[in-house]
Amino acid sequence: MKAVCSLFYLVLLLSRCVAQHGSKPNFVLMMVDDMGIGDLGCYGNTTLKTPNIDRLAREGVKLTQHIAAAPLCTPSRAAFLTGRYPIRSGMVGYNRMGVYIFTSTSGGLPNSEVTFARIAKQQGYATSLIGKWHLGLNCERSGDHCHHPIAHGFDHFYGITMTNMRDCQPGHGSVFDNVYHHIPRKTLGVGLATAAFLHYLGFVTVTRRMALGVSALAGTVFGLFSLFVYTYPNFNCLLMRGHEIVEQPFVSEDLTQRMTGEAVEFLERNSDRPFLLFLSFVQVHTALFASPPFRGRSQHGPYGDAVMEVDWSVGQIMQTLEGLNLTENTLVYLTSDQGPHLEEISVHGEVHSGWSGIYKGGKSTNWEGGIRVPGILRWPGMLPGGKIVDEPTSNMDIFPTVVKLTGAPIPNDRVIDGRDLLPLLRGQVERSDHEFLFHYCNAYLNAVRWRPVNSSSIWKAFFFTPNFYPENATACFHTFVCFCTEEYVTRHDPPLLFDLSRDPSESVPLTPATEPSFHSVLETIRSAARRHAEGLTPVPNQISFGNLMWKPWLQPCCSSLSQLCSCDRDHQRGPQSPDSIP
Ligand SMILES: *[C@@H]1O[C@H](CO)[C@@H](O)[C@H](O)[C@H]1NC(C)=O
Ligand SMILES: *[C@@H]1O[C@H](CO)[C@@H](O)[C@H](O)[C@H]1NC(C)=O
Ligand SMILES: *[C@@H]1O[C@H](CO)[C@@H](O)[C@H](O)[C@H]1NC(C)=O
Ligand SMILES: *[C@@H]1O[C@H](CO)[C@@H](O)[C@H](O)[C@H]1NC(C)=O
Repeated sequence: MKAVCSLFYLVLLLSRCVAQHGSKPNFVLMMVDDMGIGDLGCYGNTTLKTPNIDRLAREGVKLTQHIAAAPLCTPSRAAFLTGRYPIRSGMVGYNRMGVYIFTSTSGGLPNSEVTFARIAKQQGYATSLIGKWHLGLNCERSGDHCHHPIAHGFDHFYGITMTNMRDCQPGHGSVFDNVYHHIPRKTLGVGLATAAFLHYLGFVTVTRRMALGVSALAGTVFGLFSLFVYTYPNFNCLLMRGHEIVEQPFVSEDLTQRMTGEAVEFLERNSDRPFLLFLSFVQVHTALFASPPFRGRSQHGPYGDAVMEVDWSVGQIMQTLEGLNLTENTLVYLTSDQGPHLEEISVHGEVHSGWSGIYKGGKSTNWEGGIRVPGILRWPGMLPGGKIVDEPTSNMDIFPTVVKLTGAPIPNDRVIDGRDLLPLLRGQVERSDHEFLFHYCNAYLNAVRWRPVNSSSIWKAFFFTPNFYPENATACFHTFVCFCTEEYVTRHDPPLLFDLSRDPSESVPLTPATEPSFHSVLETIRSAARRHAEGLTPVPNQISFGNLMWKPWLQPCCSSLSQLCSCDRDHQRGPQSPDSIP
């Protein structure tokens, strides 16, 4: 009897031990905005110093073919959080616009979507989003916060619901400059001069009333446009803590410092329970900024300074995990939401975009430079250090990977496009589970990547490509981003085919003469695309014109309208001064 008892006790002890050892890991998921794969030391940059991120790569697994599900912020982030192509959640545009540019739109990530944060929270995790959201805010009235991060499973939120824009910082110009430049001023001037001349000659009679009417109309339109641009930062660049607006418009210069302080506090507060932190950097999107200790420190202007500040912040997070003895039990991930925004040239003509390395194109295109992003995962003891994985992986893979580790089942009431990364990262399998990846330009299937199970090729076929401008560029300087609608693209039939394993820079399309399996490869890709399309179900369009436009009744405002909604409650908390700024 005594022996049985002891045995029972031993089993109990063992199972407790196992439970403790296999206790749920924590997650720190970091996403940089618009950072290029060529900007990091660990991806081959020799002049931009990113020692902390490089260290993450040394101690973890580096993915060299990590693919963002979309080349624009809103759809890419929707896919990241849900593990699904954004077309499944309606987070894709059918017109030129593919992202939200107003805080007070009614579109956003629908509540029927399940984020990894919501599942982690149900599994007992403390969950926090610090930084950029860009997936909507309100539905029907200001303050309903139906699309707010808290409605999607984050207990804690400190950040911006929209995105950083040129307009959010004085002196950086406006994203609407393009609209202004598109007003046919010359044509208008010539028209007016001609009318005046004809009037003078007596061919037409322009009455004083007509002249006044036209001037009044032009004045009103111009006045409204100026008022709109002038008030844009107040209405759209706002910082929230939880459901409260704490700064409107936000001050960006010390924002990464404040976000880092907030993240460190979150980690300290939750060190004795499982947590999931999504640290979503506002840098290195334009308008570029860096706090004083980083200004002028890089060899690459304000862009390089911003990357260095992000790297510093990553270092602070790692140091905090070490200090709390949580390194061994925390899966750390770092990525970028898409490639660099190559069209970003500042009002002073300075290059404000990142670097795609050997890859072609950037943000807003499905050329590799637009979607191949850094992907680093570190989890000492569980993942090998210094391992490099060249297989295709997706930012959608984080969803099933995280969900499984929280102990929850993968939702089976919907298609999940991501794949659990752990077997690949741990070397239990050699091959990516993604035989096909579908590359969307907004709502349009732009290209397909095929990784056949029995060869080393990585085929990529483009059904259309964006029209670059100027023609010798690999970007769309005339429209500031490349658009996906018919007027802005060239269709290809047969599709343009590349083998990325031989031509990662997508420089020379294959032909039946240069590639014997040309036709059969395209046939396989076409039928995969057909099967994929058949698996899609229609959903409400969250980026329709109605869901994109500025709706005054949804406008968040933290003071009175006469004060243009401005307030600054955050700095009254006192400055956060992280100790180890270099
Ligand atoms: C740190 O955590 C590990 C388990 O992850 C544990 O074995 C070790 O005792 C801890 N060290 C301290 C100083 O708490
Ligand atoms: C490093 O990154 C900077 C900034 O994007 C870029 O200008 C530079 O060309 C890159 N250098 C290398 C060697 O890749
Ligand atoms: C790979 O398999 C497919 C069909 O399963 C076959 O058509 C193709 O020839 C194979 N390719 C190689 C390189 O073995
Ligand atoms: C592209 O062409 C324009 C003129 O057509 C020229 O000014 C520019 O230097 C060219 N750029 C490159 C990278 O060749």
